[in-house]
Amino acid sequence: MLQVEAEHGDITEVDVDAIVVNLFEGVRDPGGATGAVDGALDGAIADVIGSGDFTGELGSSTLLYAGDDLAATRVLVVGLGDRDDVDLDAVRRAAGTTVDALGGTEVDEAATIVHGGGIGGLSPRASARAIAMGAISKAYRFHRKTNGDEGPDLQRLAVVERSEDKLAAVRQGLAAGRTVANAQAVTRDIASFSGEEAAPAAIAGTIEAAAEDTGLDCTVWGPEEIAEQRMGGVQAVSRGSEREPRFVQLEWAPGEADRTVCLVGKGVTFDTGGISLKRSSGMDEMRYDKHGAASVVGTLLAAAELELDTRVIGLTPFVENMPSGSAIKPGDVIKMRNGSTVDVINTDAEGRLILADALDLARERDPDATVDLATLTGSVSVALGTQAAGLFGNDDELVAELETAAQATSERVWRLPLFDEYEQQLDEGAVGDLQNVGGRNAGASVAGKFLEHFAPEDGWAHLDIAGVAWNDDKPYLNPDYTPKGATGVGVRLLVDWLEDP
Ligand code: BES
Ligand code: MN
Ligand code: ZN
Repeated sequence: MLQVEAEHGDITEVDVDAIVVNLFEGVRDPGGATGAVDGALDGAIADVIGSGDFTGELGSSTLLYAGDDLAATRVLVVGLGDRDDVDLDAVRRAAGTTVDALGGTEVDEAATIVHGGGIGGLSPRASARAIAMGAISKAYRFHRKTNGDEGPDLQRLAVVERSEDKLAAVRQGLAAGRTVANAQAVTRDIASFSGEEAAPAAIAGTIEAAAEDTGLDCTVWGPEEIAEQRMGGVQAVSRGSEREPRFVQLEWAPGEADRTVCLVGKGVTFDTGGISLKRSSGMDEMRYDKHGAASVVGTLLAAAELELDTRVIGLTPFVENMPSGSAIKPGDVIKMRNGSTVDVINTDAEGRLILADALDLARERDPDATVDLATLTGSVSVALGTQAAGLFGNDDELVAELETAAQATSERVWRLPLFDEYEQQLDEGAVGDLQNVGGRNAGASVAGKFLEHFAPEDGWAHLDIAGVAWNDDKPYLNPDYTPKGATGVGVRLLVDWLEDP
């Protein structure tokens, strides 16, 4: 794991393998720390700019060799983009670019200035947090390789601050950034485990272990408690699997909480579709069908470490959706925790069945707000691609709060409707109270409509993260600091929202 630490000093004097400075797009004559380093290099940075090879575009960088004039051996200049547009995401991207650019070199230890302070006008604390976030996020790898190829090998990044006054703020910002980035890494791990590694019982054990010594309460229910709780949706989906379901609750309860929030996450450890079997191409990716639950777990870990003053309750059902002689069949009618009956028309629409019971439990807890996260529908990807999570909700204020947090963290969300007319698709022809699928149109909204039946009557929002939970070769949101595979989406967003709704 990459270490990111604060250091007091002058960037031109730090003795490391590489120092990192930045450049705004269009600047021909660098000032500040970049200017000082350029001076020590006899104008080498200005020369690269003059050559046109490096413009300061966000996401780009250029590596120079320092000779005898600096203590460091190399100078990496990272682009910060347009000066007027610089924001925390630009800082995260510059930090991610740093890790990426140095990953292919022999550099073990680097030192960077705090980007975006000076002319950028960002606070040292927020910038430091964004640097830790971007760098650690980009350095993350989930691997099972045996050939020692473990990805970028930058070991340590010192964040150098010259002003004694600002050092404490930089230190605090880095600590918070590390906390959120490490929580996001736990989320990525959980989401990435194979169906075999992460059977519901195993994953519950992993979460229990992670929660130890954190101040979080962890409760794990097995099949008996799930039956006592009358969680018919959870039971129905897990029935075809040889691996028992688990229902995991995590709670962060600070002494004097100003409000209570429930976070609900879909934890399908592997989604084959069940009897309504999925096609085999790409089915391996259905291990990330537990990403919503993984995001909830990561957020709880961060909430405890940051000692947030909100009480946060995580409700995460874990099941495996398998076809077998004991599996639910299309046409079966099941009874949910809230007493209503559901026709299971398609066993591949399983997420909403387990979420329904978890949301009903949330409703019973009577929180001030409930947010659920789920890789719920392929439809949301058709609508929004890999660029935004679908956001649904019955509370405009809560939706607006989440939109604000999405802006601040660049975990983009886009609101989609829950029109009453979509309801018809769920009611038509049902033997029970409603059926679990509608027609082909507006699938993400129809799924949201299904959840609405079980969710708290106000203060509920639903994030369909199916399009943004996995980064493959397609362009993904935040490419400069999101590695391939499970993205960890939701942790930054929810932590930001919990800190400052
Ligand atoms: N887990 C899938 C949704 C999904 C698809 C997540 C692709 C990530 C990538 C979910 O359980 C599912 O199968 N949904 C069905 C619903 C349909 C049967 C109404 C879908 O979207 O096709
Ligand atoms: Mn499914
Ligand atoms: Zn699923």
